[in-house]
Amino acid sequence: MRFGIVSDVHSNMEALEAALKWLDNEKVDEIVCLGDVVGYGPNPNECCELVRENASVTLLGNHDAAVIGAMSTEYYYDAARVAIQWTRRQLSPENLEWLFQLPYTHRRESAGVSFFHSAPICPSGYFYVVFKDDAQAHLRMYEKLTKVSLLGHSHLVRAFRLSDGKAKEVQPTAVQFEEGAKFIASIGSTGQPRDRDPRGAVATLDGDTGELVIHRFDYDRQKTAAKIAEAGLEARFGERLMTGS
Ligand SMILES: [Fe+2]
Repeated sequence: MRFGIVSDVHSNMEALEAALKWLDNEKVDEIVCLGDVVGYGPNPNECCELVRENASVTLLGNHDAAVIGAMSTEYYYDAARVAIQWTRRQLSPENLEWLFQLPYTHRRESAGVSFFHSAPICPSGYFYVVFKDDAQAHLRMYEKLTKVSLLGHSHLVRAFRLSDGKAKEVQPTAVQFEEGAKFIASIGSTGQPRDRDPRGAVATLDGDTGELVIHRFDYDRQKTAAKIAEAGLEARFGERLMTGS
């Protein structure tokens, strides 16, 4: 079993199409989307539809939750809040309804893997796992963790190995099924990377070995930025796609 993983698409259709094309060549068995399908970008309906067609599991991200009214928009700065309200107006009733029934987490116990938008600790609290201490906090629930936990939300690529009561940051290539250790990894963002690398991120996970591959891909980000401007959304949302910030 091989999983393909996309996350934080944020209504960026060009990036999502490029990610799905790569996954198609990788011959994955199943695609999981870690949430934030919408928000920031110009193609919310198209992205919902592509995810619905391709992913067997999709999680509820915080932007998705805000769009459907399951989370207060006060949490967001002005431009992001405007984009959330704009997205709500754009979405078809079917896509809104689909977002409304998405879960926060998905555990695949038999495969030793679980999926989250934010973090195993309080998934609905949208906690960030960016630093070692964030991963360290998960030692309190070590027994409940599957061998590998995959996350989105931070838009950063990060991996941590938990063993012997300690968390350690490791390269994503170190993630694997290992006796006496558990891994928490965030796969980065498909449609709005923030690690100073403007390429989108997409991942595969081998369900036999636990090996994680994070692939970065180029796509027509100028086209996405032009559509953001055309839609009257904050120009900075397009500019940040050029720099990965
Ligand atoms: Fe996000």
